[in-house]
Amino acid sequence: MPVEPTRRDRLELVEFPHPALLRRARPLVRIDDTIHDVVEQMFEIMYQAGGIGLAANQVALPYRLFVVNLEARPDAGEELVFINPSLSRPRGNAVQEEGCLSLPGLRMDVRRPEQIVVKAWSLEGEPFEEDLDGLLARVVQHEFDHLEGRLFTDRLPDAAALEARRSLDTFREVFAGKQSRGELPVDAELLAQLDRLATERCGNA
Ligand code: NI
Repeated sequence: MPVEPTRRDRLELVEFPHPALLRRARPLVRIDDTIHDVVEQMFEIMYQAGGIGLAANQVALPYRLFVVNLEARPDAGEELVFINPSLSRPRGNAVQEEGCLSLPGLRMDVRRPEQIVVKAWSLEGEPFEEDLDGLLARVVQHEFDHLEGRLFTDRLPDAAALEARRSLDTFREVFAGKQSRGELPVDAELLAQLDRLATERCGNA
């Protein structure tokens, strides 16, 4: 077997309540081969799961990075990469059903601004800024929430939040069950791993 020292371990989708999903991600200080590999794997994982957006937290990486392809297929649409993004100028509002690869099976109506300006760095290290609307504005806001440690279930009105609570409790039971059977590390270990990764490649902001 040839050794590929720059190639990371295979990344995997993680589900609620993995601690990576509940913590604010940290800004990347450089874009190197490892990040290129991470992005490639994230697109693969997203397509396999049939998603249109995926944040680094969802593969247990504490980086401010997400990927989007509105067509959910490698052979169509445009592959968009957002590194260290910021959002501004929210305008209007719209309600649309959302789901999340970290909460499989749960879909609910979420209210968000209809338009938003995103500033970010591309995978080539170029800064860019775009005024978004429609589905792209929605996906970018959903993924940005991930980087803030928030899920769409944090944005539900009271009645819907109550409805979602049962599903979230079930996800918690399944996750705790996997931990108690040793199929997943305990939270302290997962958090320590996130700290290690952030120390390696992230700044403080
Ligand atoms: Ni999501």
